[in-house]
Amino acid sequence: MGKVTVITGGTSGIGRGIAERILKDSGAEDRIFVTYGHDQKKAEEFLNDLPGEKRSQVILMKADMSSYEEMLKFVAKLKAQTDHIDWLVSNAGVSTYEKYENYTFEEWTSIVNTNLSVPVFMIQELRPMLVKGGSVLFTGSYAGQQAYSSSLVYGVTKAAIHFLTKSLVKEFEPKGITVNAIAPGFIETPWHQARTQESYDRINKKIALHRFGTVEEVADMAFAVLSNGYMNGSVVDIHGGYDYY
Ligand SMILES: NC(=O)c1ccc[n+]([C@@H]2O[C@H](COP(=O)([O-])OP(=O)(O)OC[C@H]3O[C@@H](n4cnc5c(N)ncnc54)[C@H](OP(=O)(O)O)[C@@H]3O)[C@@H](O)[C@H]2O)c1
Repeated sequence: MGKVTVITGGTSGIGRGIAERILKDSGAEDRIFVTYGHDQKKAEEFLNDLPGEKRSQVILMKADMSSYEEMLKFVAKLKAQTDHIDWLVSNAGVSTYEKYENYTFEEWTSIVNTNLSVPVFMIQELRPMLVKGGSVLFTGSYAGQQAYSSSLVYGVTKAAIHFLTKSLVKEFEPKGITVNAIAPGFIETPWHQARTQESYDRINKKIALHRFGTVEEVADMAFAVLSNGYMNGSVVDIHGGYDYY
């Protein structure tokens, strides 16, 4: 029985890095279900860029994680293709740079749904399929540790994800499943594609290493956390020394 991984938002940035890292160490019988929200072209690019022998291990699935109903459809399709999950990575996330005073309830709700509420219920649905000794990993954010972010709603959802991580440990205790989160600082992904050089310079000044992290640095850490049998209820920061400088 091969190892089965499910990763949401696995076709871009950090999620793609984690998917590729898992695939690198995988055997031919292992499978990885990789979801994306909207960008089919990017999803196909991810698949096509993989070494040929790894491509057949990947099952791409479109699933809009801002919608409870779409998440349930994804879960139904997943259950038709596998009866177990070893590793579950809840990574898909969104943000807004809108100022708090301009927030609408609809925008707030959409971000809270994508980053928090839908993952909560996805994990409720998938919990029975997780194997004994399995591993759940959330992509949190350092913006959920420190209220530095220009995006209030984003920081609030990520802080909630960190608390959810610790709270779920008890729920998964009977099967010895570990639940952890990573909390990255500023990582170079398409997330930052609209950022100006002035903005990069301003942020880099606050980071002791004076640069954004790479996807590979985060993916290596995520893989180490997923693989570690004793880490449980941990939220692991990776931010190059943000605020220490
Ligand atoms: N980059 C950073 O500096 C940083 C720092 C801390 C934490 N993070 C966290 O890392 C995670 C990944 O971010 P990233 O920087 O790698 O961004 P990214 O390159 O923009 O990737 C985001 C991924 O999430 C998917 N996604 C977005 N909305 C979705 C939805 N409604 N339903 C399903 N999937 C959806 C995207 O798929 P589509 O494009 O197809 O919709 C894409 O695969 C997020 O949770 C983010 O909060 C990022």
